[in-house]
Amino acid sequence: MRKIVFATNNAHKMEEVAAMLGNEYRLVTLRECGITEEIPENEPTIEGNALQKARYVHERTGADCFADDTGLEVDALGGAPGVHSARYATDGHDFEANMRLLLRNMEGKSDRRARFRTVIALILDGEEYVFEGVVEGRITEQPAGDHGFGYDPVFVPEGETETFAEMAPERKNAISHRGRAVRRFADFMRLYDARTEE
Ligand code: IMP
Repeated sequence: MRKIVFATNNAHKMEEVAAMLGNEYRLVTLRECGITEEIPENEPTIEGNALQKARYVHERTGADCFADDTGLEVDALGGAPGVHSARYATDGHDFEANMRLLLRNMEGKSDRRARFRTVIALILDGEEYVFEGVVEGRITEQPAGDHGFGYDPVFVPEGETETFAEMAPERKNAISHRGRAVRRFADFMRLYDARTEE
């Protein structure tokens, strides 16, 4: 079984990604590697942040590892909150305040187009790889739904009528930015391991 460090402290993400990778892989937590400090993420892009986190863990542990970073890009706001999605309204990860600020900034705007973008940065046998997943959609006028987290209650994916927060988690995973990025990453890992076993 291949062991790989997932540079996140989010238990929810850990489970989600573990389920998609399947049981040939064992995800190692930061705590298990003795990393208890907050990993810096102060790059100006989503890809930059994902790489920064993966490199940080690789430098300290030498282990194969990956990190993800996500942003919500809203066209009418020039791509904001983007790389600042977690800290849009406050310094902490206050989902409610972020969502309220987003709806306030979108008041009166008819162009509601937006997308979630996830980048996964992987360091495997010392080489770096990047995988991206995007879902297009629009920002609603009002929040709806109790599932998920973050901006889920105000985001309706293209071709859907419900927000991410109104969908069952399996449905969200099937079409979401993170789901798409994780599947690309998982496909790559399987191919890589099949090749190196030949
Ligand atoms: P992170 O890089 O995955 O921590 O995401 C940064 C921020 O983007 C989070 O704090 C959330 O506000 C938002 N976000 C990330 N993924 C999602 C999602 O699947 N739904 C809604 N918001 C998300």
